[in-house]
Amino acid sequence: MEHKLFHIVAASGDAMVIGKDNKLPWHYSDDLKFFKATTMGSAIIMGRKTFESIGKPLPGRDNFVLSRGDFSAPLGVNVIHSLDEAYRKTDKENIFIIGGADLFRQTIGQVNGIYLTKVPGSYEGDTTYPTIPKTFKENDQKTKELKEKFKIDIVYLENTGVS
Ligand SMILES: NC(=O)c1ccc[n+]([C@@H]2O[C@H](COP(=O)([O-])OP(=O)(O)OC[C@H]3O[C@@H](n4cnc5c(N)ncnc54)[C@H](OP(=O)(O)O)[C@@H]3O)[C@@H](O)[C@H]2O)c1
Repeated sequence: MEHKLFHIVAASGDAMVIGKDNKLPWHYSDDLKFFKATTMGSAIIMGRKTFESIGKPLPGRDNFVLSRGDFSAPLGVNVIHSLDEAYRKTDKENIFIIGGADLFRQTIGQVNGIYLTKVPGSYEGDTTYPTIPKTFKENDQKTKELKEKFKIDIVYLENTGVS
C-alpha cells in the first residue's frame, strides 16, 4: 500500500442506508457523475455482491472483485481473494473501495479518507454504512471544493489518525 492513496467512496441516505435488495435504493445521476469523475483512471475494489448488482466492469478503471469462492466474472474484471492481492496487482496510485457494506466495514480503519454523498430524500434499506471512527474529521476546504464542483451534498472525511 506504500505510495498509494486509499479511499472509500459511498453514498448514503437517512440513517446511513446504502442498499436494498442488493441494489442502490435510489437513482441519483449527479452522484453517479461525481463517482465516475472521481474514480476514472484508478483502481476500484468491490465485494462480489456489489459487482453482481452493477453487472459489468466499469470502463476506464482497474476493476477488482473480492470473493472467497470461485466466482467467475466477465472479461475486464480481476477476481481477487484478499485486499492485499488488489494492492499488489494494480499499478494505479489511487485505489477506491466502492462497496458494499461488508467491504466498507473491513477497510474503514485503513483508508486515507472517505467521500460520502448525502442522498436527498428518505429511503428504506437493508444495508447500512458502518460507524465512522472518530479519527475521521471533515476537511472543510476539500468538502467546499467538491460541493462547488459537483453541486451535490458531499463531505470529504480525512483519516487524521487521531481520535
Ligand atoms: N450506497 C453506496 O455507496 C453503495 C455502494 C456499493 C454497494 N452498495 C449496496 O451495498 C449492498 C451490497 O453490500 P454487501 O455488504 O451486502 O456485499 P458486498 O460488500 O458488496 O459483497 C460481499 C461479498 O464480498 C466478498 N468478500 C467480502 N470480504 C471479503 C474478503 N475479505 N475476502 C474475500 N472476499 C470477500 C464475499 O463474496 P463471496 O460470497 O463470493 O465469497 C462477500 O459475500 C447492495 O445493496 C449494494 O447496492 C451501496
